[in-house]
Amino acid sequence: MRLPKNYKASIVLLCLVFQITTAQDRDYHPAKNPGRIILSWEKDPATSRTITWWTDTTILQAQVQWLISDASSDLPARATSTYGRTVKATAGGKTAHFHSTHLVDLDPNTVYAYRVGVEGHWSEWFQFKTIDRQALGFNFLYLGDAQNDMRSLWARTIRQAYTQHPQASFVLHLGDMVDHADNPGEWGEWFEAGGWIMASVPQVLVAGNHEYVRDPSSQDGTRLSEYWRHTFTLPLNGPPGLGETAYYFDYKNVRFIVLDSRDMLISEDHSQRQADWLEKLLANNPQKWTIVSHHHPIYSSRGNRKGYSIAEYLQPLYDKYKVDLVLQGHHHSFARGRAFEEVGQAEHQGPVYYVSNSGPKMYDTNFAGWIERTAINVQLYHNVEVAGDRLTVETYLVNGTLYDQIELRKKPNGSKLFREIPLERTEERLDFPRATYGADIDTSQEYKSTFKKRALEYMKKRGLRE
Ligand SMILES: [Fe+2]
Repeated sequence: MRLPKNYKASIVLLCLVFQITTAQDRDYHPAKNPGRIILSWEKDPATSRTITWWTDTTILQAQVQWLISDASSDLPARATSTYGRTVKATAGGKTAHFHSTHLVDLDPNTVYAYRVGVEGHWSEWFQFKTIDRQALGFNFLYLGDAQNDMRSLWARTIRQAYTQHPQASFVLHLGDMVDHADNPGEWGEWFEAGGWIMASVPQVLVAGNHEYVRDPSSQDGTRLSEYWRHTFTLPLNGPPGLGETAYYFDYKNVRFIVLDSRDMLISEDHSQRQADWLEKLLANNPQKWTIVSHHHPIYSSRGNRKGYSIAEYLQPLYDKYKVDLVLQGHHHSFARGRAFEEVGQAEHQGPVYYVSNSGPKMYDTNFAGWIERTAINVQLYHNVEVAGDRLTVETYLVNGTLYDQIELRKKPNGSKLFREIPLERTEERLDFPRATYGADIDTSQEYKSTFKKRALEYMKKRGLRE
């Protein structure tokens, strides 16, 4: 439809006004009532929890009331008060009090209730359940980058994941939770999207490059956003200076190791520092399974690169110590595969690598040789289940469709029997991405036709085309 020039200009103006208005509406402020309440752990996940939240600066106390949950409603009369730490901090021009508390010596397989705040400004009562030591297995949720439009478009991912898997022991976020880590509005969106799920299921956070902000005084011109350490209370058992971004914990028979790949990329010294720490953890690992998480992928689903330079520090360790899963983000698509020499093997030694994406920003894929299954232009999440010597990873599209499922069986010698579990509805999702949020994607016809050819080769490899 042809419109008069000045009419078009009015529409543009209206759009701009609308954008400004909605941005202001989403300018989340700290208040007297607690906000951004998030459950996690710093010490043993079996017996402890940390609770972190923010308020305005008139609230001076970090108080949590808690007890073993009961069906009666007289919780306040019977609850215990525990006090924690309050830190005043300013980021993105917004000053707030960040509060954190620790609950320790928790009983296993028990539902607890808690609320945070002060008289007249309490949160609602939340509930969480501790580990069931008798149960053979457990499951957790793995989400790739949220990063953009967290409120509008990422909310459905975390809500769908939780709705389908409410028993999940925790949610693992693979970094780039927001686009600008010093922007309080973006964290406001992230917390609004997760809502009470954040306060009821422990959240385990991996730092991505977007959690780092510009700082000309630092070695590489960036530093971790101040919001990170104030907003989350995570383990401090990593290399010196990397508490809460490089850490580990054991959950039942799994060792989880979180690396700060952004820090590793600063220099060879930084890479070596985390590699040395990682090797100690892998060499003295009493657990049957090992899952490592870092934001930057060492097997890439983008461009022609094999992966980031940290691969040369990490992959030899993954192979030597037979790491089982490596969970990654950053490349805004789904890719699942193994080291080039292990692709297609029924029994293998090294990890299964994942790249994933839970938010709306989309990249294309390179259909690299390591990739055994892929999907692009989709939001998705994963449910990982570990029970004895069996580990399964289910990949769900955000609408709840099961897209991919694999099983690993651990042999006594540490190697794995690999099986892709056939699914009924597994239509390949290979639409060229549209919502790139300004990313540098080659949209030329020449590239698109190469992409089509590679997509056909991939389909052939999967036995879907003659
Ligand atoms: Fe990233």
